[in-house]
Amino acid sequence: MHTATAEALSNIAFIKYWGNRDQTLRLPSNASLSMNLAGLKTVTTVAFDPSLPGPDALTLNGHPTTGAALARVTRHLDLVRAAAGLSARAVVTSHNTFPSGAGIASSASGFAALTVAAARAAGLALNEVDLSVLARRGSGSASRSIPAGFTEWLAGEQPSGEDSYARTIAPPEHWALTDVIAVLSAAHKATGSTEGHGLADTSPFQAARVADAPRRLSLCRTALLARDFSAFSEIVEEDAVAMHAVMMTSRPPLFYWQPLTIAVIQAVPVWRAEGLPVCFTIDAGPNVHCLTPTEHAPEVERRLRALGVPDVLAAAPGGPARIIA
Ligand code: PMV
Repeated sequence: MHTATAEALSNIAFIKYWGNRDQTLRLPSNASLSMNLAGLKTVTTVAFDPSLPGPDALTLNGHPTTGAALARVTRHLDLVRAAAGLSARAVVTSHNTFPSGAGIASSASGFAALTVAAARAAGLALNEVDLSVLARRGSGSASRSIPAGFTEWLAGEQPSGEDSYARTIAPPEHWALTDVIAVLSAAHKATGSTEGHGLADTSPFQAARVADAPRRLSLCRTALLARDFSAFSEIVEEDAVAMHAVMMTSRPPLFYWQPLTIAVIQAVPVWRAEGLPVCFTIDAGPNVHCLTPTEHAPEVERRLRALGVPDVLAAAPGGPARIIA
């Protein structure tokens, strides 16, 4: 039996990935940029067992899991088995250190950890680029949880997807930013991102969003590398709203915002005008990620709670996906 355990962090995109040019290979319509989130972690053990008769077995946060979640894990393990010339079924045990159902994307950390553990357990010697390419097949944003710190996922040009991977553009210690997450709802999202990506092109705004993405990414990368919070704030908020405009104008439309989402995104620019450096971004859910230089995180949390935000999580820039056992 070949076993390995890996950990990987979730990440928050500053320039969003939304829509694929190839849905099966998860080749994105645009490049994206993100920060790994220290402490928001998935730990996954993969054991390939030739004596296992049946399907792969999956335990998520202590619960034996079948159905769509297992099918997606099996599809991913099949890629690893094909690369390693292996037929053995696997026992996969995975848990998150962040509350599941808090609307914190676990697919990024989950598929990054699964990729690293499965590749090692299968005896594959993959480098960081190979691992990022492979993680991308499980969940696009997982490609960005393979390298450390602040990462950029290149859209790539090859139909094979071999040049569509994420790389570090700055290490975690480059900028002491904290993601203060306003957790607004523990409810599971109605439409998951895999389905959402498939709807992106039904919005008349997606082509414009994608055409303008290189400009936004370049502005964001420059602001990040220069630690220019003012320029960073503007482009991060613009990019998030552009993605949600596409979501809301897809057919069928996707509305992820709740009343408190709006309350927070209206308050944040006011706080910034008052001198508190903070900006917002939002993924495929109602939670608002408030990015701020770390010394201001307690004040951002205090103000979020004063607005009625029930729960707050905070995460600093984090490291790469790695083998831990
Ligand atoms: O990796 P996926 O398919 O869960 O897509 C992630 C999509 C967003 O979180 C909304 C944006 C992003 O770039 O992370």
